[in-house]
Amino acid sequence: MERSLSMELVRVTEAAAVAASHWMGRGLKNEADDAATTAMRTVFDTIPMQGVVVIGEGEMDEAPMLYIGEELGTGTGPFVDVAVDPLEGTNIVASGGWNALAVLAIADKGNLLNAPDMYMDKIAVGPECVGKIDINASVTDNLNAVAKAKNMKLNEITATVLNRERHADIIAEIRAAGARIKLINDGDVAGAINTAFEGTGVDILFGLGGAPEGVIAAVGLKCLGGEIQGKLIPMNDAERERCIKMGIDVDKVLYMDDLVKGDDAIFAATGVTDGELLRGVQFTGGHSKTHSLVMRSKSGTIRFVEGRHSMDKKPHLVMKD
Ligand code: FBP
Repeated sequence: MERSLSMELVRVTEAAAVAASHWMGRGLKNEADDAATTAMRTVFDTIPMQGVVVIGEGEMDEAPMLYIGEELGTGTGPFVDVAVDPLEGTNIVASGGWNALAVLAIADKGNLLNAPDMYMDKIAVGPECVGKIDINASVTDNLNAVAKAKNMKLNEITATVLNRERHADIIAEIRAAGARIKLINDGDVAGAINTAFEGTGVDILFGLGGAPEGVIAAVGLKCLGGEIQGKLIPMNDAERERCIKMGIDVDKVLYMDDLVKGDDAIFAATGVTDGELLRGVQFTGGHSKTHSLVMRSKSGTIRFVEGRHSMDKKPHLVMKD
């Protein structure tokens, strides 16, 4: 892949973030999602690449855009797999909450997991804990492994968990072990990536979230030297059959190289609302300001990019009432 693609891809997440951010706090999550998806789709088609969505907004018959199998890019340049989440945290934006992102990941063709939009069980950690976690081990064993790897006490470890009824057992076990919990209402891409950044105050992520979010987080963690393990969790027969058709063994643990093969992948995210890592979109009469993170696993380069966009000169970023 071209090195310059990284910066091109930031334009895609910036556009999606600005479009979605107009809907902040307005209680309309679908409108926010549509705005992000349309903006992301529009800018993707200016990027010199021959991309195919391998995991994204759903199947062709259920998602109008950025569905699995959709082709993206100008039709010139490298052949790449694309994983997209135009608005990671639709409810977050609807309620003006914390940590909504416009996010995507790409890798050379054939290198990203091609899976349906379904649930994935996940465990994610930063670089110090690589090789120490095991999704098949108990929550307590994993917490102990992280504490040992980071030379911390159990009561100093913070686990991020999506605040869902299905996670009651995980939460109870973390509490029983004496570790701290950060319950998040949405946004497990940020939850996973944050484990690899010192200063976010979180050490491990546990629990079920979306599979696209799992693949995107895997690319982010590959760039950051962290680790995520996942297991696809079919919720019904249709999902199980879809996995079989796609050649996926749902009983298999998905390790880093199953989620993203090789060492050349790019992750790009722009904050829609404020988060621990990225500020959200800000408007200042005539301009919007964006804060993005773009990383490439091959070089290990991590860039924080601040963008100031003239809304006059970028009419596609201006919301049409
Ligand atoms: P959306 O942006 O699609 O609303 O996803 C937000 C999210 O919280 C993800 O971060 C997470 O992976 C998934 O939803 C969890 O799904 P559910 O809300 O069904 O528990």
